[in-house]
Amino acid sequence: MKTYEIAVIPGDGIGNEVVPAALQVLRTLADVHGGLNFKFTSFPWNCDYYMANGKMMPDDGIDILKGFQAVFLGAIGDPKRVPDHISLWGLLIKIRREFEQSINIRPAAYFKGLESPLKHTKNFDLMVVRENSEGEYSEIGGRIHKGEDQLAIQNAIFSRRATERAMDYAFKLAQSRRGHVTSATKSNGIVHTMPFWDEVFEDVSKKYPDVQTAAYHIDALSAFFVTRPEIFDVVVSSNLFGDILSELGAAIMGSIGIAPAANINTKGNYPSMFEPVHGSAPDIYGRGIANPIAQIWTAKMMLDHFGDTDIAQKLLDILQDVTAEGVKTPDIGGRATTQEVTEAICNKLKDLA
Ligand code: NAD
Ligand code: IPM
Repeated sequence: MKTYEIAVIPGDGIGNEVVPAALQVLRTLADVHGGLNFKFTSFPWNCDYYMANGKMMPDDGIDILKGFQAVFLGAIGDPKRVPDHISLWGLLIKIRREFEQSINIRPAAYFKGLESPLKHTKNFDLMVVRENSEGEYSEIGGRIHKGEDQLAIQNAIFSRRATERAMDYAFKLAQSRRGHVTSATKSNGIVHTMPFWDEVFEDVSKKYPDVQTAAYHIDALSAFFVTRPEIFDVVVSSNLFGDILSELGAAIMGSIGIAPAANINTKGNYPSMFEPVHGSAPDIYGRGIANPIAQIWTAKMMLDHFGDTDIAQKLLDILQDVTAEGVKTPDIGGRATTQEVTEAICNKLKDLA
């Protein structure tokens, strides 16, 4: 029997609704599967914790998390009480960086039972590989001058090491999929980092002659996500471009409430972290209508990461079956609650036993 030790951080807002839902599903899965077991340890690190302690996690928080095989996170953010740049950099981005989770993978694919806002949805199935450790997300910069002369400067950092790492990951992933990588660039407008990005893409692509490539400027690429998403297999991007593209990917699937993500530590020296694309959704928090599918699909990605790919695929099939049967939360056109969707998924899992 395999036992996975998982650190759970529900976080803020609907994280406290969808994380318990996903844990219920994982526990049910362990009951029916037999060979699997999970030991969950929950940490109350969020904006409440910040209000009480002046920090998002204890000083030894990262050391505590080091002992786990994975971190399973809901969402962080309560912007009415704590500025986002403080809460997110104090927990989410801190964990991504301290644990060298340099790759963020975010699938977007046609999902059975969901109505995409696209008029003629084809059978798209793409994966955004987002560089997750640097790029436009940097602390280098500042503000100078006052009044009308005031300036804010933010430097973007693109190291060859991290850029190559993201691209290598994308090419290897493409080799296990349909063998195509698209680079998200903007070298027509951003004159230092993006020509460098293109150069590295060209260099890395030479190592993978079996993989086809394309490069589009991010503006055109975003439009293609809407007009013909079926042309994409793996899309490799900088940190910010990947953030935006993956949210667009969620939208063309039908809702951000279903989109999963994984922050991968490729070296295996620290835990990886699994958290959905969406945030804490303060606008719906407390009503019991948050869609739990993104968090549960994220759990599926965690199972894939552990190597339990068969049961992971069964879980994803069940998510689609339940959706196709019409057990849906309001964001995808239904009337079911978070709990009703979760129960429907657990019941189908029990049928597998
Ligand atoms: P959001 O993703 O929380 O919400 C955007 C919209 O999507 C809202 O209308 C919301 O109701 C809806 N939505 C999101 N998840 C849903 C779900 N599971 N089911 C149904 N509807 C869902 O984005 P936001 O409003 O820009 O951000 C709110 C807070 O979350 C902010 O503090 C932001 O910084 C933070 N945030 C955190 C993360 C993270 O922790 N990974 C990601 C994005 C945003
Ligand atoms: C995400 C979020 C975060 C990001 C924010 C909340 C800092 O949008 O996980 O995609 O931009 O990485």
